[in-house]
Amino acid sequence: MEMNELNPDVLLVQPSALRVFDHEISQDPEIIKLTLGEPDFNVPDHVKQAAIASINADQSHYPYFWGIQALREAASTYYREKFGYQYSADQIVCTVGATEGLSATFKTLFQPGEGVLIPAPAYPVYKALASINHLVPIMVDTTETGCVLTPQQVNEAIAAHPDVTIKGVVITDPSNPTGVVYSKAQLSALVPVFRDHQIWVISDEIYGELTYGVKHYSLSQWLPDQTIVINGLSKSHAMTGWRIGFAFGPTGVIDQIAKTHQFQVTTPTSIVQHAAVEALTHGQNDAAVMRQVYEQRCQYLTDSLTKLGISYVEPKGAFYIFMKIPERCHQDSFTFARQLAKNYHVGLMPGAPFGDSQALRISYASSNENLHAAVDALTKELVRDGVLAK
Ligand SMILES: Cc1ncc(COP(=O)(O)O)c(C=O)c1O
Repeated sequence: MEMNELNPDVLLVQPSALRVFDHEISQDPEIIKLTLGEPDFNVPDHVKQAAIASINADQSHYPYFWGIQALREAASTYYREKFGYQYSADQIVCTVGATEGLSATFKTLFQPGEGVLIPAPAYPVYKALASINHLVPIMVDTTETGCVLTPQQVNEAIAAHPDVTIKGVVITDPSNPTGVVYSKAQLSALVPVFRDHQIWVISDEIYGELTYGVKHYSLSQWLPDQTIVINGLSKSHAMTGWRIGFAFGPTGVIDQIAKTHQFQVTTPTSIVQHAAVEALTHGQNDAAVMRQVYEQRCQYLTDSLTKLGISYVEPKGAFYIFMKIPERCHQDSFTFARQLAKNYHVGLMPGAPFGDSQALRISYASSNENLHAAVDALTKELVRDGVLAK
């Protein structure tokens, strides 16, 4: 078959630039990678034991496609207590990581040709999902407002696209790549504009448990009937490879999302679902240890970047810092990141795939030793580029 006979929406989407870059630098056996959003912690022991017990109990059969009832009930209670979600067990679908929840939501909420607002810098998966579903991704630059979407920016985006029905918006809070956390006031200020224009919110809260000195609020608190919340255990319980997440939404719409999900994946792995019940019923504090370590690393990096005169978006959550490449380096993000990899064996993520070709994303889900190596590499590169004195 000729390639041009395939679905053009799929052909237009490029493979994840983040993965491609990570693969490229991984060819160097000495590379220290601060690239992917991968916790450097292990799955909590009690969760591992629950998975082993589940195997031994032969819980190996098809679970109900929405997810096992115990898990949906556990998720309803856990996230209500943590963040005030107002969704009952029958408004929750257990998904294969947050990614599958996002994918099923994009596929279900929107009709081809409708617009989705994506505040940028953004996690690149949203744009890819919009494109693959034949939607119009409308990137809204938020760099002037501290990487927080404002009602004015929403109104301006609507006015600038009179021919597009803007049906959705993605809010990533805490944010990948910037680590920004919306305040209660910033979130609630957006509610009237979303309500007036009937814009559905996809609220990606996968980093909700990783905030430093500030509280995470869920936009769904104010707009439960017009929000699909995406969350999961990948970051809070360091379970990225186990692939378990959740989509929460109002009755009716969530039933349709469950249908899309069923025909894509059936349901997440049975053993993982049983282990996830343990995580949500006895692992309320599992993220606390990680949070403390991440916070210290974040402090080390922000102090170091400040000393080097490098500007960055003030991070309050997740495990990323989005730093500006000093203008005097005269390099775009891919060139700069490749120089760091080639000269000092340190891998940082180019900012271009997130929407800023003059930035780099540092993931501090990595050892202190690796973070020191990254600061060292940045220092040497700035000296090499004549930005810092020798
Ligand atoms: C903002 C955001 N959403 C979703 C995901 C994907 O989560 P999962 O691994 O549970 O699919 C990530 C992973 O890095 C992310 O950064």
